[in-house]
Amino acid sequence: MKRLPLSPASIVFDPDGTPSSSVYAAPYHPRSRAVQQAHAVFLQGNGLPQRWRGRKRFVILETGFGLGLNFLATWQAWADDPQATGQLWFISIERHPVLLADARRALAICDGTPLQDKAQALLAQWPAASPDGIQVRFAHDRVVLQVLQGDVGAALRDWPLQADAVYLDGFSPRLNPDMWSPPVFKALARRVAPGCTAATWSTARVVREGLVQAGFAVERRAGLADKRRGLQAQLVRSPPRVRDAARIMNGWNEQPAVIIGAGLAGAACAQALSAAGVACLVLDQAAEPAQGAFSRCVASRRRRACAPAACSGLDGPTALRTPG
Ligand SMILES: C[S@@+](CC[C@H](N)C(=O)[O-])C[C@H]1O[C@@H](n2cnc3c(N)ncnc32)[C@H](O)[C@@H]1O
Repeated sequence: MKRLPLSPASIVFDPDGTPSSSVYAAPYHPRSRAVQQAHAVFLQGNGLPQRWRGRKRFVILETGFGLGLNFLATWQAWADDPQATGQLWFISIERHPVLLADARRALAICDGTPLQDKAQALLAQWPAASPDGIQVRFAHDRVVLQVLQGDVGAALRDWPLQADAVYLDGFSPRLNPDMWSPPVFKALARRVAPGCTAATWSTARVVREGLVQAGFAVERRAGLADKRRGLQAQLVRSPPRVRDAARIMNGWNEQPAVIIGAGLAGAACAQALSAAGVACLVLDQAAEPAQGAFSRCVASRRRRACAPAACSGLDGPTALRTPG
C-alpha cells in the first residue's frame, strides 16, 4: 500500500461560512445541519446510542477527523445518554490536520448550541500536526479521543485497535479515491471487532464492494439529512486473526496488563499499551521507576515516559497504574 505524506489542510470558507478543502474541492460538511448529518448518517447508521449501552468500552473508528464535528456530536450523544456508563474511545485518522485558526472559525457554528462547551474543550487541545498524533481525554477519562495523523491506509495497518463502529467520512470516492481504495478496506477488515457496524453517506459502488470485501453486509438507507442516501453495514463474518497487539485488545475490557519491572522495557510496554487503551499495572521492587542498572543511562528520559501525568498511585515499593 502506498504511503501518502502528511500535509496540513488548506481550507477556504465560502461566503456563507461553509469550510471547503481547496485540495479536494469539496466541503467538509454542509453549513447548516452538519450536526444533524452526524446523527442521521453516523450515529443512527451504526445503531447508536443503543449499541454502546452496557459496554465497558465502546470504540469508534473514523476515517477523516477534519473539524471534529462527528466527534463532538458523538460525545454529546454519549453525555446525554444516561445508559452510557462505560468509556467511549473515538479514534480518527487524518492526513491533512486542520490549522487551529481554521478549526476555530469552522467550529463557531457550535456557539450557542449544546455543543459549545465541548467544542471549546476540543479547541483547547486541538491536535497539532505531528506524526505521532494525539490522545486527549475528556469528561474525567470517560471520553478518549485519539487522532492518528497520516494516510488512512498506513494508520489502519500500523495501529492495534479493534473498532465496534466505523464512520467512513473521507471526501467522496470520485474526488478522493485513495481514501476508499481496496487496500484501505482490506486494512479496515483487520481492525474490526465481532459485531462491528459501519456507516457512510456514500453509496458509491467502490464503497459497497469494499465493505463487502471487508466482511460486511451492506444496506442502503434513504433520506439522511442533506445526503439523499447512505449506507449502513454490519460485520457478518468473523474478523480475521491478526498476529499483533490488536489481539491483546480483545481482552482489554476486562483485565489490566500486569508488567513486572519499571525499567526501560517495562516503561516502554506500559506506555505503548496505555496509548492503545490497555490499563497497566507496573510492579517493581524499587521505590521508584527506572532504578535498575540498564535504566540508569536513560533514567530521566524514560521516567517521563513511564510516569505520565495520568499515572496514579504509588503503593510502594512501586506500583504504577496507567489508565486504559
Ligand atoms: C469530509 S472531511 C471529514 C469531516 C469530519 N469527519 C468532521 O466531522 O468534521 C474528510 C477528511 O478526510 C481527510 N482525508 C482525505 N484523504 C485522506 C487520507 N488519504 N487519509 C486520511 N485522511 C484523509 C481530509 O483531510 C478531511 O479532513
